Amino acid sequence: MADSPAFERLLVTAALPYANGPIHIGHLAGAYLPADLFVRYQRLKGEDVAFICGSDEMGVAILMRAIREDRTPEDIIDTYHPQIRDSFERLGMSFDHYGRTSSETHVETTQDFFRVLDENDGFDLSTDEQLYDPEAEMFLADRFVVGTCPVCGYEEAYGDQCEQCGSSLSPTELETPQSTLTDATPELKETTHWHLPLGELQAQLEDWIGAHPEWKNNVLGQIQSWFDEGLKGRAITRDVPWGVPVPEDVAERHGLEAEGKVIYVWFDAPIGYISATKEWAEAQGDPEKWTDYWQEDDTRLVHFIGKDNIVFHCLMFPSMLMEHGNYVLPDNVPANEFLNLEGEKLSTSRGWAVWLHEYLDDFADERHAPDLLRYALATTLPETKDADFSWDGFQQHVNGELANVFGNFVHRTLTFAQRYFDGTVPSLQDPSEADRAMLDRMAEAPDTIGTAYEEHRTRDAVFETMALARRGNKYFNETEPWHTNESDPQACANTIHVSLQVCAALSILFEPVVPSAAAELRERLGLENVRTSTPDDNPADAVGWADAGTPLLPTGHPILSGPDPEPLFKKIDDDTIEAQIEKLRERAAERDSDPSPTDMDYDELKDNISFDDFTNLDLRAGTVTAAEPVPDADKLLRLDVDIGVEERQILAGVAEQMSPDEVVGLEVVVVANMAPKEMFGFESEGMVLMAEEPDGTFVPVTAAAENGSVVR
Ligand code: MF3
Ligand code: ZN
Repeated sequence: MADSPAFERLLVTAALPYANGPIHIGHLAGAYLPADLFVRYQRLKGEDVAFICGSDEMGVAILMRAIREDRTPEDIIDTYHPQIRDSFERLGMSFDHYGRTSSETHVETTQDFFRVLDENDGFDLSTDEQLYDPEAEMFLADRFVVGTCPVCGYEEAYGDQCEQCGSSLSPTELETPQSTLTDATPELKETTHWHLPLGELQAQLEDWIGAHPEWKNNVLGQIQSWFDEGLKGRAITRDVPWGVPVPEDVAERHGLEAEGKVIYVWFDAPIGYISATKEWAEAQGDPEKWTDYWQEDDTRLVHFIGKDNIVFHCLMFPSMLMEHGNYVLPDNVPANEFLNLEGEKLSTSRGWAVWLHEYLDDFADERHAPDLLRYALATTLPETKDADFSWDGFQQHVNGELANVFGNFVHRTLTFAQRYFDGTVPSLQDPSEADRAMLDRMAEAPDTIGTAYEEHRTRDAVFETMALARRGNKYFNETEPWHTNESDPQACANTIHVSLQVCAALSILFEPVVPSAAAELRERLGLENVRTSTPDDNPADAVGWADAGTPLLPTGHPILSGPDPEPLFKKIDDDTIEAQIEKLRERAAERDSDPSPTDMDYDELKDNISFDDFTNLDLRAGTVTAAEPVPDADKLLRLDVDIGVEERQILAGVAEQMSPDEVVGLEVVVVANMAPKEMFGFESEGMVLMAEEPDGTFVPVTAAAENGSVVR
């Protein structure tokens, strides 16, 4: 086992998701899944864990969505909070408490925290000029303004953060700032705000981070680059109409009006971890219990986040905790990088994402559907660099590993036990070299896998777990129980005995990643009294993680009898995968071709013409009867068009868009009195009408009328 550090309890948090949209696989791979695996592993080990999450509801991200959809912020959060909470639950996220930052406890906790810092002189109060949108009559805080990042040059940086390089920013630091509310050019207007003096705290922060060389490289690297640049103070209040209000008494202390001022979301949201812990303690009937987890030195606090949250969890929140003085600091912040999808950046606005609730619905008929996604994602976590999720990869992980390796090993073991040993665990006598080697390998597994979880190498942990099942299959193949069953029944008994012990081990070691399948396996094995990986209570003598290395099933122990057992996992067929890829492409295509009208590049309307100008045009219905490329002219097709009264040769500039085959047979509208024109050695006797879409696509103007009909 990894050295047990001197802590009594664990407080694990996963970033509070904004309640302004549903959860997708990028969120899961960034923070939630690694957190849940870690927590379940720790619970199986017997640690005292509080796993805390909740919805982030009081920030500008919520207000923006409300404004865009002409709804109230309350309406937005009341839509998404329950949806997010429920889909997390369906995926098996094992939070001890899932709160929300619009709760009374949270507002109070945040205001108290703010008050303490204000009284400790933890803030600078200063009046300076901020960007103001004169049309919207609002200060342009946070996501209400975009511009070029002064650090990395990214053009779509927000007023408080650049999501490209992770830096935290102030709106006035953006180059070429632009209001996302209106097209107005921002003005400068004076306003007073509370600031967190991060610059003054830099030395203290450097000391603290310096004592954590074990943190992930991607996290330490980002932090170092901000230290190198020098930290700056950040405003932590805002003039926007949504957020946790600045407490009136605190404003009065400074002779200010609290009216219209709210606390910055990145000040209140991390406090959400604290308020959710309070709510949890209350629900446990022990309201003061939260202080053990936040204020006792023997608590180990771990924040699971995505990389865009590093600055807030490694610098800002710790500064707040330091200034308050009464809190533990995080022991680790294992941030993940980003997940791509089918080789492209995830984009919620483009619909290029796999939504958790949709996955759960679409795969509802599969056995252990949540486990399939948990496993496939866990093998693809962007732990050290960005990673890619693809549906083909998903299918391979499910079919090639869960079904073919783990499921298959379990299935053949149980089938043999049932057929040849009356559904009981046969005895192990005079074990062979191979039997002993297999048991030795099993004995090491809890430590190898556990160390990987401890060190936040979650992918390795999952890989090592599957490796034990793989080893089990190899052992089964090499000892050939289908032969020894006839030739040496005790050797066959030994194989099945050992294989059943490995199955029992796997039913515990696989619990963090595929809890539903692991529970089914334990039931089949009749393995009871195993510690739960969820917040439920455990019997005192329950079997846990470390015990998985030792044989858990006594000889003669009955396993679930009945007809041959169903395999643990079913394979995912190609059609299911195709359907998902198709769904993704269709949705992206719809969004791509349906940009909002302001994004469209239409030609300007022309000046008016007279009715006579129009009647001078001779428009006729016709049919294209032949089409061929024009030598040396890449853009042109030579068409024969029947316009009823006669046949015309027309050169049409559509060759880059349509093949001759596609054009022949079209019932088109022809400008019949166009003066003939010679092009590339052909005479063109008219024009065929096409509508040109903003992206340059041609759509033929068709008229299903008799050739020669006049169009007017
Ligand atoms: N809502 C933020 C995001 O999705 C995360 C908030 S984490 C917390 O990026 F610490 F502030 F709670
Ligand atoms: Zn940047």
